[in-house]
Amino acid sequence: MAFEPVARTSQLKVGECRIVEMGSHGGPTAPRRIALYRLADGFYATQNECVHRGGELGDGIVSGGSHVVCPLHQWRFDIRTGACEVAPGTCIRTYPVKIEADVIMIDLDGGTPAVLALPPDQDD
Ligand code: FES
Repeated sequence: MAFEPVARTSQLKVGECRIVEMGSHGGPTAPRRIALYRLADGFYATQNECVHRGGELGDGIVSGGSHVVCPLHQWRFDIRTGACEVAPGTCIRTYPVKIEADVIMIDLDGGTPAVLALPPDQDD
């Protein structure tokens, strides 16, 4: 586990999301953009790039208390599990989040993987 600080808890209100960059502190790997969310029960993180066509989920809308709606074609994903409502079996990657004092930390090595499970005739 390698949790990295990304933001302070006061930077997000319940029902908000934003994009954070990780690994951009002079390390050997390119920075990665991660979507960070605040729900009523805490903070969550997923990959930022939508598995459909690359929309930025951190610029999406938190809906129904636990889902994010992609800004490009409005696919909905469960923020806690990554599951997609539009394409069953498809998931976005989720990452573990913890809070230390008032600092939000994300572990890019943990979480659940992304799965793309589109039927052959469903590509939009
Ligand atoms: S890119 Fe996200 S729904 Fe199409």
